[in-house]
Amino acid sequence: MVRKFLVGGNFKMNGSTKTVKEIVHRLATADLDPNVEVVIAPSTLHLLVAQQVIEETGNKQIEVAAQNVYHEKPGAHTGEIAVEQLKAEGINWTLLGHSERRQAGETDEVVARKTKVALDGGLKVILCIGESADERRDGKTEEVNARQLQAVIDAGVKNWSNIVIAYEPIWAIGAKALRAATPEEAQGTHAEIRKWLAGAGLEGNAAEDTRILYGGSVSGANCKSLASQPDIDGFLVGGASLKPEFIDIINCKRA
Ligand code: PGA
Repeated sequence: MVRKFLVGGNFKMNGSTKTVKEIVHRLATADLDPNVEVVIAPSTLHLLVAQQVIEETGNKQIEVAAQNVYHEKPGAHTGEIAVEQLKAEGINWTLLGHSERRQAGETDEVVARKTKVALDGGLKVILCIGESADERRDGKTEEVNARQLQAVIDAGVKNWSNIVIAYEPIWAIGAKALRAATPEEAQGTHAEIRKWLAGAGLEGNAAEDTRILYGGSVSGANCKSLASQPDIDGFLVGGASLKPEFIDIINCKRA
């Protein structure tokens, strides 16, 4: 199976209805490489307006994702959002396990449980993993990624066909990033993750078929060299996803 290139945009806790409309309209009316799957994750407040703008433009390429879901059925859970609620609105994707959520207290087990519930409820999941600067310095990158992924298997997920992994080293993310990973660093880690998938006892041909995105300071300037690596199957883009540069990142494979 050829792994279709996927570029995700994580808007994080940014934007107003007005600016999200502008950003999504610019994106949905741009000349995008049709060979790329595009998934944008605005804040919960703007999921439906983003979806509406995409529909109004007639764009069939861009899909909308939540940034998080809760692992319980709809009910008395103030401040949370359920898989069923997203599905009822035609939202078919969610991010899970972003390092900003893990730093806010989500354990591997919670992220894994959410992943199981999201998949069971029919959502596709962009599962974020990655090590801190200290963990990389101490040679623990592989161990940390394996632990975060193993938790999902331990939660009972053996079929990974609706999981996209986003490898996002914490030291490369956001305004406080040290730097982006080099293409060689990212490729090396992606290859390790793929090797781990091969030995994980998953259904089907998960090692070959699962897409592994890179995230962390992806920009118009570094996207081409990162995308040229054999095990980098797309990106999860934070800051740059709010800018016109996001279009260049989506189109980075186009000559
Ligand atoms: P960044 O964020 O592109 O701003 O580094 C990536 C992410 O957090 O998903």
